[in-house]
Amino acid sequence: MRTPLVAGNWKMYKTSGESASFVKEFLPLVSGVKGVEIVLAPPFPSLPLVASLTAGSNVGVASQNVHFAAEGAYTGEVSPAMVKEAGAGYAIIGHSERRLYFAETDDNVGRKVAAALAAGLVPILCVGETLDEREAGKTFDVAGRQLRAGLAGVDSPRAARVVVAYEPVWAIGTGRTATPAQAQEVHAFLRGILAELWGRGAAEAVRILYGGSVKSENIADLMAQADIDGALVGGASLKPASFAGIVKFK
Ligand code: 13P
Repeated sequence: MRTPLVAGNWKMYKTSGESASFVKEFLPLVSGVKGVEIVLAPPFPSLPLVASLTAGSNVGVASQNVHFAAEGAYTGEVSPAMVKEAGAGYAIIGHSERRLYFAETDDNVGRKVAAALAAGLVPILCVGETLDEREAGKTFDVAGRQLRAGLAGVDSPRAARVVVAYEPVWAIGTGRTATPAQAQEVHAFLRGILAELWGRGAAEAVRILYGGSVKSENIADLMAQADIDGALVGGASLKPASFAGIVKFK
């Protein structure tokens, strides 16, 4: 059985003060939740604070990005080991906003996933097609290519630690969620690729999250799908009550 994972990607929202207020209000709301891994992905400056405030709780912490090198002359970048030391257990990698605005390539994403694993982080590898790509019938080509490239440096013993997030770009921040059936179709396709790469057993252990306008109103229908193992939530993770409502989808 795969343990569901629900992660809140705060993107470039919340100062450290705002992050601390969120955590103080959020922890009591979710302290009784069992059987769901809960993760917060704050901006880098508040990551150590969020990690210390959530230490010993049932809430984990992710970075929103990492660099692929262990260290070096890469102004403005942060290494997986730095993120790990700051208290993160996970790293979101290859989010579509990074691919779109920061020229992140499939190749870079693959190197980042391998580097995150080597540093002991759980990578949350994001894949997903744009609206133009979906309308051109390229959804499976694009998501499949991004998945294979993102996992190019992962060997099967490490496979089960990887988390995949399917985030159709047209559903991010638009209020237009993929239907549960649309999401399930792509999730099943992605799991098929994982099985081809690593064998059915390893593929069955990997969590595949859905992301794109997830709210407390639509999470249960998404989670009812066979291959949807959690959610990567943007806007609706910014308010404690709203994110707690998603985490308590059962
Ligand atoms: P929204 O939930 O705001 O659509 O964002 C999804 C997302 O990009 C999470 O990484």
